[in-house]
Amino acid sequence: MSDQTSIVKEIMDLKKKQDAVILAHYYVGNDVQEIADYVGDSYFLAKKSTELSHNVIIFCGVKFMGESAKILNPQKKVYMANENAECSMAHMVDPDYVKSIKETYPDLATVCYVNSTTKIKAMSDVCVTSSNAVSIVRKLPNQHILFIPDKNLAHFIAKQVPEKEFIFNEGFCHVHNSIQKSELLEAKKQYPNALCLAHPECTGDLLDECDFVGSTSQIIDYATGSDAKEFLICTEVGVFYELKKKNPDKLFHAVSVKQTCGNMKKNTLEGVLNALQGVHKEVVVEKEYEPLARKALDQMLYYAVR
Ligand code: 13P
Ligand code: SF4
Repeated sequence: MSDQTSIVKEIMDLKKKQDAVILAHYYVGNDVQEIADYVGDSYFLAKKSTELSHNVIIFCGVKFMGESAKILNPQKKVYMANENAECSMAHMVDPDYVKSIKETYPDLATVCYVNSTTKIKAMSDVCVTSSNAVSIVRKLPNQHILFIPDKNLAHFIAKQVPEKEFIFNEGFCHVHNSIQKSELLEAKKQYPNALCLAHPECTGDLLDECDFVGSTSQIIDYATGSDAKEFLICTEVGVFYELKKKNPDKLFHAVSVKQTCGNMKKNTLEGVLNALQGVHKEVVVEKEYEPLARKALDQMLYYAVR
């Protein structure tokens, strides 16, 4: 038996013994996606965590995803496959800035991308993900929207919801923000028949050149449902695994060498095994922020289906 096969076997045995379920984001490596029970975008994984009866969740993703699963399922034990996998954008908003904007606009809704810390979620009225941000913001009764932490997603939503007034923050994803419009234009020259699909964390000038903008799941669904045979993909390269699995006859190209999230790639099979073996600490969230953070996440689940 190869090392990989024996690790996978151990994972499967321990998973059963412990009544554990493995959730993985589309950005983790192919081998980890392959052994996960559920693979999806951040909204799917957060929602799925609330629908499962397992006692233990092993999360293959970044910290805010494990924390969201824990906040939504306080009775369950949640472990990260890698305890140091962080999303840098989650920390790119100053709580004092949020406080000051709240004091300035009495009718404000503070809308927080799920890529955020528990403290920031607790300061927010509602969380959103890239798959539901536009529709949830549209449904809010408030005229002024403070959108944190991501400036690119905020500007994308503001364009779709012109009837509201937005206050922005300077956060960004270093992976998506670094994909250049010039690189996309070069790739378009090279693959003139390809459709261009992008994640809304990319910059606005790049999004303006694209045929479709959506979350990781929405990009995969769009490519799968499309008659086109070739696509330029502006998001993290982990999505290629599912794209190719669902569309073996179609071609997918990255546009930049920077489309890799190092933190997502910290998730490994060994890490999943360690988590199941009790080597990792359980995910805990700050007690003082937990109830309000849960309220913001619950509001997302509420608005997403209305
Ligand atoms: P999705 O909500 O599309 O899964 O995106 C999460 C993320 O971290 C994007 O960089
Ligand atoms: Fe965070 Fe960007 Fe990595 Fe997504 S791709 S987890 S936003 S750093």
